[in-house]
Amino acid sequence: MPGVLSKLPAHHRLLHLGEIESTNREAMRLALAGDGGPLWVLADRQTAGRGRSGRVWSSEPGNLFASLLVTLASPSAKAYQLSLVTGVAVIDAIGEFGCLRPGAALRLKWPNDILIGGAKTGGILVETTSTGGDLKSVIGIGLNLGSHPEGIEPAATHLGAHGRTPEAAAILAPIAASLEVWLATWQEGAGFAAVRAAWLERAGPPGERCTVKTGEALITGSFIGMDGNGALILLDSDGRERRYDFGDVTLSP
Ligand code: BTN
Repeated sequence: MPGVLSKLPAHHRLLHLGEIESTNREAMRLALAGDGGPLWVLADRQTAGRGRSGRVWSSEPGNLFASLLVTLASPSAKAYQLSLVTGVAVIDAIGEFGCLRPGAALRLKWPNDILIGGAKTGGILVETTSTGGDLKSVIGIGLNLGSHPEGIEPAATHLGAHGRTPEAAAILAPIAASLEVWLATWQEGAGFAAVRAAWLERAGPPGERCTVKTGEALITGSFIGMDGNGALILLDSDGRERRYDFGDVTLSP
């Protein structure tokens, strides 16, 4: 992929691999070996792509598999908010890239799923380590560009099914630029209010019915919003407001 590096923010480095187990795993290995980033690890194919909650991330060639390694300046940075920051950045980058047909319903689902018309087209996995006195985060982004896994629930889709199929290298540049802007806005947590507002604008409407799964528990209710730390706020069937820091959300049909 010649020319990718020249289109990334000036101080970003790029490690482009043909095949790797997982770009997150490789970026974390480099972090633990002393690399402080910003470094993108991009792979054409992953043999053991990782999703949230220990799930497998299907990683067929033609889709985007990329991880950004960054060192956070403050040891008290709210690294758990990075997945929300990245969700906003990826939505903006797709919009800016302009590959979707007008009217394609691109949106976020808490905490960081990228949906088109309710079907998942991208996911984000952030992993953080404290090493040598530094807090380092690996921000992994998987985006279905030319294909998506079939026969899974909830359903998946890919960008090309809703317009033009981007090349991974081509869409990485606007993602990197957008992430740079949103990381600067976030300020390691101090600017989260602006991220929260942007996230809510790019998410489904308040009142949307959904189910949250946390461990064995399943709670159905209405989406109310996201609190000042990034937790999901849900109104349950007893009219009680509940907050979730972690969980899988399924939209009700
Ligand atoms: C999710 O479950 O929604 C998160 C999926 C994250 C997948 C990406 S692909 C690039 C990076 N490397 C991985 O192994 N996972 C992330």
